[in-house]
Amino acid sequence: MPEWLKDAAFYEIYPQSYNDTNGDGIGDFDGITEKLDYIKSVGFNALWINPCYDSPFMDAGYDVRDYKKAAPRYGTNNDLFRLFGEAHKRGIKVFLDLVPGHTSDKHKWFLESKKQERNEYSDRYIWADHAFFMKGHPYIAGMSERDGIYMLNFFASQPALNYGFAHPNEPWQMSYDSEAAIATREAMKDVMRFWMDRGCDGFRVDMADSLVKDDDPDKKYTGLLWQNVREMFDKEYPECALVSEWSNPEQSILNGFHMDFTLDNPQTGYRSLFRDYRDVLSKSGGSGINSDSVDLAQDKSYFRSEADSDITKFLDWYLPQYNKTKDKGYISIISGNHDTPRLRRTLSYDELKIAYAFMYTMPGVPFMYYGDEIGMRYLDIPTKEGGYGRTGTRTPMQFNHEANYGFSDAKAEDLYLPQDPSLDAPTVEEQEADKNSLLNTIRAELTLRHKYDDLKADAPFTVLHAEKNDPLFVYKRGNLTCAVNPSKRETSFEGVSGSKVLFSLGETELSGNKITLKPQSFMVIG
Ligand code: NOJ
Repeated sequence: MPEWLKDAAFYEIYPQSYNDTNGDGIGDFDGITEKLDYIKSVGFNALWINPCYDSPFMDAGYDVRDYKKAAPRYGTNNDLFRLFGEAHKRGIKVFLDLVPGHTSDKHKWFLESKKQERNEYSDRYIWADHAFFMKGHPYIAGMSERDGIYMLNFFASQPALNYGFAHPNEPWQMSYDSEAAIATREAMKDVMRFWMDRGCDGFRVDMADSLVKDDDPDKKYTGLLWQNVREMFDKEYPECALVSEWSNPEQSILNGFHMDFTLDNPQTGYRSLFRDYRDVLSKSGGSGINSDSVDLAQDKSYFRSEADSDITKFLDWYLPQYNKTKDKGYISIISGNHDTPRLRRTLSYDELKIAYAFMYTMPGVPFMYYGDEIGMRYLDIPTKEGGYGRTGTRTPMQFNHEANYGFSDAKAEDLYLPQDPSLDAPTVEEQEADKNSLLNTIRAELTLRHKYDDLKADAPFTVLHAEKNDPLFVYKRGNLTCAVNPSKRETSFEGVSGSKVLFSLGETELSGNKITLKPQSFMVIG
């Protein structure tokens, strides 16, 4: 397990929307390189860049046409290698996004696979020989010279790569350990080696649980595949790491992932922290800002002060997962990602400060989505590149109040996506100047995390107080005690050890072994 993960704080960058240095209205590698000092200054020491490979962009780059070639709109492979180098000079690691479950239907493997005549790639994808096997999975028929239908992994443009079936029961289904399935796995390892040999520090893995089809409920066969990949990491790239889009740490981490995300889906307790509302994404096709499609009265999220909620829904999911995986890998709590509505959609700056204080004092490796450090809004705008309701979360970064918020010199109408039109749109520049801003609060939270070993990914975590209908959550990290009260009422707790308040937000008090947390507050005691 790489040591550096213990103190890692990741920053996710959607490259389209980060920083445009050549005035074409879309972000690029040089733009990211240019902002490394800023990124470092906030306290982030690792990046995850969304897919930046050659692609027709039917799914924002998750439809890869060439795994080994940078998308020209972001720059060249050499520009990306320079980004790796400049990041490393500043002590920042760089993860790319690996999309192993599917390619674009324009990938050369697939163009070959579609041919009637057998070739090296005929079995690289999942093909059924007849048009009547559409059981349980979406298939596409009638689009190839080859007589057959192919399985999809996501959108129509994303045919499923063939890692076999857990229990093949049709003649055209191959086994998870068939020659063709192993060849696909090895091809993906070759892609990983290509980038890691050139300075990449690891990968965020897209739909990591989706590879072997009709897998057992415990994902045994997909798990075996990742165990094999982990062997490669341990042997050849011991300083590199993998984080999975899986959200089942027990399955992902125990099968080889170094980290697994908490994702915004109904199966995880994560949703109860920030987005416990009925999610009615824009149906208008985009009419402006701040879609009011959330019924705030029904929002039960723990970090929404009015909700007066408690942490137990989250812990019911988190604790068993944490206890089963804590010696093997890390759970990664995220502020959000390119698929989720931004937190600012429903949370105020004060609520966000407390939410992030929690995120940066919990075990595991935290991930923040670009723009969340200044509280960028979720915008109600028309879809782009297969984004649909996710598009409003992907708008260009807001650095300052110059043209296009400092994102690009292009004309506003030529930008990748429109930006927040409101007069109080948050920017980095403005928040740098305000010592109580969200940005400067996150800086302080990250400084604290980097300073104390007890706040690192692997330091022990125990719950001191978490009860139903009680907003107060008190937990120990090593010898430190953290307490969070996101609600509008005053709370208190007796039985803490430690004599000094090391960090606080809002009004808090420590007297003897008793802590008092006024509305919307947070404290760390040591
Ligand atoms: C998950 C990614 O996060 C999402 O953006 C993408 O559309 C799908 N996987 C398909 O690759």
